[in-house]
Amino acid sequence: MEKHLTVGRVAGLAGVTVRTLHHYDEIGLVRPSARTAAGYRAYAAHDVERLREVLAYRRLGFGLREIAALVDDPATDAVAHLRRLRRLLLARRDHAAATVAAIDRELEARAMGIRTTPEEQLKVFGAQLYERIGSDYPATRRTEPRIAAKVWEALGDARTVLNVGAGTGSYEPPDRAVTAVEPSAVMRAQRPAGAAPCVAASAEELPFEDQSFDAAMAFSTVHHWADPIAGLREMKRVARRVVVFTYDACDPGRTERFWLTRDYLPEFGELLVDWPSLADLTAAVGGSAEPVLIPWDCADGFFEAYWRRPEAYLEEHVRRAVSVWTRVGPRAERRAVEALRDDLASGRWAERNRDLTALGAAELGLRLIVA
Ligand SMILES: C[S@@+](CC[C@H](N)C(=O)[O-])C[C@H]1O[C@@H](n2cnc3c(N)ncnc32)[C@H](O)[C@@H]1O
Repeated sequence: MEKHLTVGRVAGLAGVTVRTLHHYDEIGLVRPSARTAAGYRAYAAHDVERLREVLAYRRLGFGLREIAALVDDPATDAVAHLRRLRRLLLARRDHAAATVAAIDRELEARAMGIRTTPEEQLKVFGAQLYERIGSDYPATRRTEPRIAAKVWEALGDARTVLNVGAGTGSYEPPDRAVTAVEPSAVMRAQRPAGAAPCVAASAEELPFEDQSFDAAMAFSTVHHWADPIAGLREMKRVARRVVVFTYDACDPGRTERFWLTRDYLPEFGELLVDWPSLADLTAAVGGSAEPVLIPWDCADGFFEAYWRRPEAYLEEHVRRAVSVWTRVGPRAERRAVEALRDDLASGRWAERNRDLTALGAAELGLRLIVA
């Protein structure tokens, strides 16, 4: 017979009161599926699993009504909940780390008798990752015409295009009616004069009616979303065609095939743990994926762009325009850059990567999903 836990035992283990569990039962949030002979609530394994999800969303600040909708969604199984919770918690951790760094900077400034401005003091509390690093973005991030041509071709004959996670708009097609969506105020503020209109919103909740656009595109942004699958489904809901430039995080050779992650920054692999597979991303929009090779002189300075120009990674402004370097943390960044600098000086990098000089374009796991 299946093992059940009493309400008192569950409350003790979970660190909540019995009253809370009774309340969850009364509102239908977590209903224990059995009763003991004496009539007490008894929780089966799947009740405990649901309670665990409820408590985790609660800890993240979700309201009970929102949580009910999340845990009742038949399309989200226990693993999908765990993945989503993990990503939300990691985003919170990144935010806490940024706040600590900002406090340390202010303490240092105060110790030197410098007072920070009110704007500087408040900035970090409202900030998402791109609110912090976004101002360094335009230094090296711009349209790579050969990759843009692929994206625009994939948009087919779409006349109206939604660009989700649009940033400064590097890949917006100039000859169609584009609407941009971008949650970061710092990024929105850097859109060039005359750029397409931009709505402050997130991929996971697009403020548009079903099928309002001929196509929706997302370039180098899906890996920043709290819930990539939900965001992709939203794109599919609001547009007839979907085009996404992203990364195959489940490719078994992913850290091995790029010398930077293989030899200097293995921490990159940790950023990808629990990232949905390319198959999951593709299935969310019902499309297919094809590799996009990165030209050796790629004009857009994303993480993989300088695979044949290793000296670029020694440049602070190149790294600051790529979120990976912020996300691995300053210690890993310093170690990777110092090791690369040494290997470039000693000729070790050149020796190890001799084959690259003959290559005009490299397969580094970047993919175009089209649906
Ligand atoms: C690497 S930038 C890419 C910007 C632009 N697509 C480009 O290629 O230049 C990633 C962008 O995703 C945005 N972003 C982060 N979370 C998002 C979300 N949940 N929904 C939509 N965009 C998001 C960031 O604010 C940032 O502007």
